[in-house]
Amino acid sequence: MNLPRSQKAGWYAATPVASVAVLRGELPPAIALPAPDQAGGRPLMAVLRERQSIREFSPQSLAPAALSNLLWAAYGVNRPATGHRTAPSTMNMQEIALYVALEGGLYRYEAKPHELVPILAADVRPKTGGQPALQQAPVVLILVADYDLMSKARPADRDFFAAIDAGFISQNAYLYCASAGLATVVHELNRPPLAAAMHLRPEQRIVIVQAVGYPKAVSAEARAPAGSSRSESRGAK
Ligand SMILES: Cc1cc2nc3c(=O)[nH]c(=O)nc-3n(C[C@H](O)[C@H](O)[C@H](O)COP(=O)(O)O)c2cc1C
Repeated sequence: MNLPRSQKAGWYAATPVASVAVLRGELPPAIALPAPDQAGGRPLMAVLRERQSIREFSPQSLAPAALSNLLWAAYGVNRPATGHRTAPSTMNMQEIALYVALEGGLYRYEAKPHELVPILAADVRPKTGGQPALQQAPVVLILVADYDLMSKARPADRDFFAAIDAGFISQNAYLYCASAGLATVVHELNRPPLAAAMHLRPEQRIVIVQAVGYPKAVSAEARAPAGSSRSESRGAK
């Protein structure tokens, strides 16, 4: 079968569900990620000043460059020689997988090649819980801990480590969004329906989900008075 590199046999072994979907022709279209801009962005202290949860999104899809930067900032490989990531993980277990739910389907971020691997041709965003507006965000990040990758940790510690490690990734995404003028909010969910929709294995546990998109356009009248640069830049998106 003539498949993209990320869908060839070696990759099947780790993700049997995806291989079934490949064979059934149930995969969403491939999305090419441009190289992330690792030198851009605003000064860290200014970004920290702006970091916040924003719950109203424009329906506009995220530009490929913004999606690429978001994924790299959240959980990309920043030291290729060792494969270490932008987010720390307990004992470098890297047990969190970053799934990306878009209107056109579900993808999994593979950090080393910086690729989005198609998983399912289904829109799972309506299963991501939270307030209805959050499910309409063009991108929902789904942070999934694979407990099969946590053998170095004592069983009693694994839930804590999965939650901590997911938290770092989420905060990286928050900071990128603040830097790039995007809206984002991390939110709770009903895990079993989403896990079923994603065909996760029992050892794969959803930790948290995070909606991302452009902020909903703010009308000129609703904008803060001149001088409030933050409100103005958000409204301009
Ligand atoms: C684990 C966790 C779960 C959250 N769940 C929700 C949620 O279900 N809905 C929501 O609107 N915000 C949710 N939030 C966002 C918080 O409400 C938000 O971070 C808090 O109000 C502080 O606002 P800020 O992020 O703008 O500082 C959650 C945050 C965390 C860390």
